[in-house]
Amino acid sequence: MKPLPDVLKTAIGQRVDLIDTPSLVIDLDAMDRNIQRMADFARKHQVRWRPHAKMHKSAELALQMQRAGAQGVCVQKVSEAEALAAGGVNDIYISNEVVAMPKLQRVARLAALLAARGGRLAIAVDHPEGIERLAETIAQVGTPQPREGHWAAGDSTLIDVFVEIDVGQGRCGVPPGEAAVPLALAVARSRGLRFAGLQAYHGRAQHLAGAAERREAISAVVRAASHTRDLIEATGLPVPLITGSGTGTLVHEAASGVYGELQAGSFLFMDADYARNEREPAQPTFEHALFVKTQVVSVRDTHAVCDAGHKSHAIDSGLPTVALLPPDRSLRYANGGDEHGILHADGPKSRLPALGRMLWLIPGHCDPTVNLHDVMIGVRGGLTMGVVERIIRVDARGALT
Ligand SMILES: Cc1ncc(COP(=O)(O)O)c(C=O)c1O
Repeated sequence: MKPLPDVLKTAIGQRVDLIDTPSLVIDLDAMDRNIQRMADFARKHQVRWRPHAKMHKSAELALQMQRAGAQGVCVQKVSEAEALAAGGVNDIYISNEVVAMPKLQRVARLAALLAARGGRLAIAVDHPEGIERLAETIAQVGTPQPREGHWAAGDSTLIDVFVEIDVGQGRCGVPPGEAAVPLALAVARSRGLRFAGLQAYHGRAQHLAGAAERREAISAVVRAASHTRDLIEATGLPVPLITGSGTGTLVHEAASGVYGELQAGSFLFMDADYARNEREPAQPTFEHALFVKTQVVSVRDTHAVCDAGHKSHAIDSGLPTVALLPPDRSLRYANGGDEHGILHADGPKSRLPALGRMLWLIPGHCDPTVNLHDVMIGVRGGLTMGVVERIIRVDARGALT
């Protein structure tokens, strides 16, 4: 692991106003409250939570959530799984399809490594050929060496496999119902693979603006998932778990009695896009905890310019909003290109910020924003008076394979 640059090491203990710009900053108090609320929510509903690490990409944050009760992590990519495993995470689910043989060989090696450490790797499939390829590569790694008695003698299972059903996203997965049954049976017949259940995630439903729309979408999802489960179980094969859900709809999957595990990730930081949607009353209050600190570097009569453009934050789900301003003094952020943001005074009492003023942006979409940064600067005590407590590495930054 590359050592932290000195400038970051010396930042620990400094006041927030001294943090260089543009920087990605975590309000640790807000983040810790989000974790606690999620842990309480999952406990109350008796569901497991396996937060999606595609969002934070950090082993340190994954382990913090495991200490608070999370089951492990989800990732989308093999290289994300490898990066988090290197950082000490032992229970990893690649909630995605992998078909390239060289990648599957990495999956098999990682499965053996985690099993030997007493952990577990899981993966999603949606095609008979994908299952065959996975089984072939798993067979090639052979039986791992038991270490510290973790690996049960005679246990030939190396990887947990979820059959993905497409519950409305229109992406990977087979249609719910009959199509999933032969896949589940093929997994169960394959040496080295264990049929672990169904992957049923509706990504588009997460971002529907209206609370009623989201509720309706997920009631159809739940029906589709439970029908598929019943068809598989009618063959005599148990479906141990149905996993899915995200920050926008977790209330509904948790209450369904059908889902046993929630994969929500964004609740940890909450981006501007989620904040724009109508809140479901039963949803725990998740606060914004991720900010881009920026500085005003140019001022004109009509606008001000700050030093954070879309190389500092993703804009695929909309532009950032400017935090910590009263509504009548709000500033509107407009796209100023790679390195700049343009600020307009929008509220009735708004004034353009002075040259040199520090501002806090709430990114439109946290996942691709985090992927733009090597580190996140963790601040304790708030964004006005707080101090830098720790530097959190984005271990899986750029892990796209
Ligand atoms: C498969 C899967 N599960 C869960 C999530 C988490 O969703 P969110 O970050 O909106 O909570 C995602 C996010 O894209 C996902 O792709």
